[in-house]
Amino acid sequence: MTTVLKMVGITKRFPKVVANENVTIELNKGEILALLGENGAGKSTLMNCLYGLYHPDEGEIFINGEPVKINCSEDAIKHGIGMVHQHFMLVPELTVTENVILGLKSHREPFLDLKAAEKVVQELSDRYRFNVNPRAKVKDLPVGIQQRVEILKTLYRKADILILDEATAVLTPQEVEELFQIIRRLTEEGKSILIITHKLDEVMALADRVTVLRDGKVAGTVAKKDTNPKDLARMMVGREVFLNFERKPCTPGEVLMKVEHLEVKDKQGVRAVKDISFELRAGEVLGIAGVDGNGQIELSEAITGLMPYSGGKIYINGQEQHHINPRKLLEAGVSHIPQDRHRTGLVLEFTISENLILQEFYTSTYSKNGVLKQDVIRSHGEKMIKDYQIKATDPSVTARTLSGGNQQKIILARELNRKPKILIAVQPTRGLDIGATEFVRRQLIEQRDNGSAVLLISTELEEILSIADRIAVIHEGEFMGIIPNENVDIEEIGLMMAGRKKAS
Ligand SMILES: Nc1ncnc2c1ncn2[C@@H]1O[C@H](COP(=O)(O)OP(=O)(O)OP(=O)(O)O)[C@@H](O)[C@H]1O
Ligand SMILES: [Mg+2]
Repeated sequence: MTTVLKMVGITKRFPKVVANENVTIELNKGEILALLGENGAGKSTLMNCLYGLYHPDEGEIFINGEPVKINCSEDAIKHGIGMVHQHFMLVPELTVTENVILGLKSHREPFLDLKAAEKVVQELSDRYRFNVNPRAKVKDLPVGIQQRVEILKTLYRKADILILDEATAVLTPQEVEELFQIIRRLTEEGKSILIITHKLDEVMALADRVTVLRDGKVAGTVAKKDTNPKDLARMMVGREVFLNFERKPCTPGEVLMKVEHLEVKDKQGVRAVKDISFELRAGEVLGIAGVDGNGQIELSEAITGLMPYSGGKIYINGQEQHHINPRKLLEAGVSHIPQDRHRTGLVLEFTISENLILQEFYTSTYSKNGVLKQDVIRSHGEKMIKDYQIKATDPSVTARTLSGGNQQKIILARELNRKPKILIAVQPTRGLDIGATEFVRRQLIEQRDNGSAVLLISTELEEILSIADRIAVIHEGEFMGIIPNENVDIEEIGLMMAGRKKAS
């Protein structure tokens, strides 16, 4: 077995935080190594050091036994390292090939070798069975295929070591399976893979070995065959984690939200939500299951006033809403945890404290005569950091300096802390580690037990099954049926997710 990559004694400090402390990892040829760890454990930082985006303060990197200096991503590429980021960096208006060669020098400067490049892209796609058309425009491709374009980009640059940072978070179960097949084919061809994920079943399905980081340090490295999800969870968190939990039956009260024959058109004018009706009661969780991209976003944005709807009626607390305006909703006790938290939930340049009071700064709690009560705002920030275990030194640091999962916790803290009457949660645990996922799910149930109405939209069936009282299945903008979450037949839900209506 040959070692293709060694990172030895890597230490990376940020002001007030040691993100990586004396970290050593090894990657063998043809191997899949999973990097596991809680939010803020230092996974992305370590990979950014390898890809030349950050410079470690201490430590050395060896590629094929040779010490190398990686000062920028061009250096990393030169050494055969490729990285697929969680947020894709493609230009939607360009074709697959144009995206692949973007930023590379042409041999026939100033002319682009588009034809030649197209041929290579086609060959790569065929060889690894990517099924990508080199001439398709990226904006017309589903997320799973866009991700393959990112992988193609690294292969075109002759990457032998591939880094995938939370690559599966945005994929449907089907796309995840296809990505895994692609990853396995890559390793058969001698490529080596570093993958970051929070999902233990993915680690068990894919990895050869696992390195667990905790608080910036290596907590251990184990072979997949010698471990199991429970042990991995314990290594990550440093205590026992309950992967399942009990839920009391619900006692639904009055109807707090009612939606009748809702129709929403997407930005292209296509009907994305068709004739959806439901009631949401105090003290219950209504889960909406379904594969990503079946109208969930449009539905959640329409009922929270972020998007207009073209037909139907929405009632909140018994009152018909004509123009839903987000601030009015807030005052009516509606909270929204949006799916795209970078776009609608957070201001990255603001501090944690500021983000926590983003919609309430004008209330008497936080301001008086137009002057913000800085000490109240700060102590609120400190409390939320503690309650929600946000990994940050201080509430006055900007959201940008937090790890991906910890940025999300700010929004969760803000929306849940308000004790809303109605909570609309879209993918609330995406990107969160297992401890935080457990915590958020408990919070949702607690809110329910305190009389809130919770609408949970999630593509993770396991999440819906563990907390919803009733389950609606959405497919191509329509509800296939709403069923109680008692002795549910998973196969039947699967069929509904694929578009088969339940006979009522
Ligand atoms: N640019 C930065 N400036 C200051 N601190 C940073 C910066 N980038 C990361 N950190 C800090 O370094 C630590 C590790 O963050 P990192 O993003 O590597 O975590 P992670 O393991 O990838 O977490 P997640 O699972 O949430 O993505 C965190 O405490 C984070 O706040
Ligand atoms: Mg990260």
